[in-house]
Amino acid sequence: MSKVVFEKVGKKYLSTWAVKDIDLTIENGEFVSFLGPSGCGKTTTLRMIAGLEENSHGKIYFDSDVVSDPLIKSFMLPEKRNVGMVFQSYAVWPHMNVFDNIAYPLKLKKLKKEQIKADVEKMMSIVELSGLELRKSSELSGGQQQRVALARGLVMKPRILLLDEPLSNLDAKLREKMRKDIRKIQQDLKLTMVYVTHDQKEAFQMSDKVVVMNQGRIEQIGAPADIQKSPISEFVADFIRSGE
Ligand SMILES: Nc1ncnc2c1ncn2[C@@H]1O[C@H](COP(=O)(O)OP(=O)(O)OP(=O)(O)O)[C@@H](O)[C@H]1O
Ligand SMILES: [Mg+2]
Repeated sequence: MSKVVFEKVGKKYLSTWAVKDIDLTIENGEFVSFLGPSGCGKTTTLRMIAGLEENSHGKIYFDSDVVSDPLIKSFMLPEKRNVGMVFQSYAVWPHMNVFDNIAYPLKLKKLKKEQIKADVEKMMSIVELSGLELRKSSELSGGQQQRVALARGLVMKPRILLLDEPLSNLDAKLREKMRKDIRKIQQDLKLTMVYVTHDQKEAFQMSDKVVVMNQGRIEQIGAPADIQKSPISEFVADFIRSGE
């Protein structure tokens, strides 16, 4: 678990800025959502936390350690960051059973068999998949596959778990249940979670703090109730209104 700090962070692709001048603090144990329309820079910002994109400007810290500062050519590789990621496409391996899918990151770390078994079973119980260890992932429902992806992201005890629109493939009812489940797991494990969505209801319902983004910049950061009560700009007010 870690605090993440962005200081004037920017990411430029050739001539276009995907994100620009981002100042942001994600506190230890906080649930933060990035909210904004398509193309506003949510995924890019998330990937910079994971180290899957390198920022072109500014500094990123985990606690007081710099993990990226292009000015001094300092960059911590993704595999050293201990950050978990869950994507929109669940990216579970269909030919592997549930146990092996969840165990995969631990096998990569070459943990002992008994340790892997204990960790995977604990995680399966947390995401309520116990009993399905030997089921092939291709024979699970969408919601169950999503839980496998979540368990696989959690099993390596990441310092931060990043989720990029993880529920958009699910139907409304299941989405509602998974929102509550994810929030409960985050609170029970006191995890730092960063959640990307363009669905304001989702962001406001789940988060301690919402970061509203627009065209690569942060428009407003605040608790859900504060943003809803006092949108700081026309853009934020419109965005909230349009989702009602
Ligand atoms: N590899 C890339 N090369 C060039 N431009 C890119 C690349 N990746 C993203 N961009 C651009 O950066 C901007 C931000 O993209 P990003 O994927 O972060 O948006 P997003 O908020 O996640 O959108 P969505 O809700 O559609 O997923 C967009 O204008 C996009 O076209
Ligand atoms: Mg995206």
